[in-house]
Amino acid sequence: MLESYLFYGDIFDIVIFIVVKYMSLTNNQLTTGVQNYEKRILSIVLLLSCSEKEMTLDEEMAVDIWDEINGYESWTPPENFTGIQESNSVHGNYVQIWLNEISSEFFRDTTTGEIMPSGSIIIKEAYTDEQGENKTGITVMKKIIDYDTVNNDWFWVSYKPDGSLAGKNGAEKFCYNCHQPGRDYVLFNR
Ligand code: HEC
Repeated sequence: MLESYLFYGDIFDIVIFIVVKYMSLTNNQLTTGVQNYEKRILSIVLLLSCSEKEMTLDEEMAVDIWDEINGYESWTPPENFTGIQESNSVHGNYVQIWLNEISSEFFRDTTTGEIMPSGSIIIKEAYTDEQGENKTGITVMKKIIDYDTVNNDWFWVSYKPDGSLAGKNGAEKFCYNCHQPGRDYVLFNR
């Protein structure tokens, strides 16, 4: 956007130069006139580009995942991690985990390999209290084949308690760096 502004800006300068010259202004007035005009246009361009801030592809995917996990509170908890548990991670003092059908099946079946199947979703809610009355956030990992082949294809997301995006979504280094030692990056069953 800025590049085309600069390009047209040059042509613009020449046109203004000719018009204003014919209107018989002094050279000094001319220069400031053109500069002010440019400044005004530049601020409009910047304003427009700020107000039209588009969502990234990852953010759009994160919003879709929120719709997809609607009703997760009725999903299955892991057998060795049911209800609200104390956590010593960054996630909060207390956490609760849910597995969608695909990932729940993976942990039930002892003959499965190390790598979870595509479509696996694991959710973790964080609370400040043991009763789970004060929820501070929801983190999700979803396996999407070929999404991030170097880090086992996990899509990571953090949501605020109301489901709005909390800032981390996609192939998040912050998330997978810490989860890396887990079984396919999963840590609750280490
Ligand atoms: C500093 C380490 C650390 C970071 C960073 C981290 N986690 Fe975790 N996470 C853990 C630990 C440890 C657990 C296991 C349960 C517990 O103790 O809370 C866990 C559990 C989870 C779980 C449940 C499945 C599992 O692996 O046990 C999800 C989902 C999750 N984290 C998502 C995320 C997301 C999304 C991010 C990035 C926004 C993230 N985590 C960043 C340490 C981390």
